[in-house]
Amino acid sequence: MLEPLHRWIWRDPERRAHKLLRFGDTETDGGRDLVRAAELTSDPLLRRLYLVHAEDELRHGEMFRRRGAELLRTLPPNLSKDGFQADWLAPSGHGADDLSVDGRDDVLLAFLHLSEKAAASRFTVYHGVLRDDAPTCAIFEEILRDETFHMNYALTQLARVSPEHHQQRLWRARLGRLWKAYLRLATAITGLIGGLILTIQYFVILPPFAWLAKRAERREPTGWSPVSPARNGSLKRQY
Ligand SMILES: [Fe+2]
Ligand SMILES: [Fe+2]
Repeated sequence: MLEPLHRWIWRDPERRAHKLLRFGDTETDGGRDLVRAAELTSDPLLRRLYLVHAEDELRHGEMFRRRGAELLRTLPPNLSKDGFQADWLAPSGHGADDLSVDGRDDVLLAFLHLSEKAAASRFTVYHGVLRDDAPTCAIFEEILRDETFHMNYALTQLARVSPEHHQQRLWRARLGRLWKAYLRLATAITGLIGGLILTIQYFVILPPFAWLAKRAERREPTGWSPVSPARNGSLKRQY
């Protein structure tokens, strides 16, 4: 349903390049978090999987950055600036939520499963609208295969480490994502309302004060005026 919108977002070559560079940063960031998760886990199988996953994410970051840089080089130099990125309409694969690594494997795996699932569905859309750009399309295709593997292994391992509570963990992770999305939306709306109120204040409340100040200025005598003898006392003290 949103395909025409995504087609429009990705059509601009400059925006495409900057988006890929940002995606690269998100993937690399995720890779670093997974290395930390591998350090903290006491489960040898999970450690291996986290390290494979981290390697994949770091590679994705590299692929996105390389392609973004290639596209930037094809643009005229004066065009290359960081413009409107439509990040809230077409976010990076793993979304805006940061991975929180605190050594709880079940919580982490539930979060990973959902964020990889979101990444897989976003990348499917981006892959579909980028068919005219074969090299970028091929990158999304390759990354999409990895994200599907990440999504599946996270769910299988969650069911293994928490056989009785894995559904509960998934629901908690879903609610957590929903809550964070609500907070982001509320922050954006609050920012908009704040901007609107300040603009109204600027145009409605400020003009009368400006008019009063101008009127008072007209009454002020110009130039130096002598100090009255009552105030013209000794200068030996401060007050
Ligand atoms: Fe990835
Ligand atoms: Fe991934």
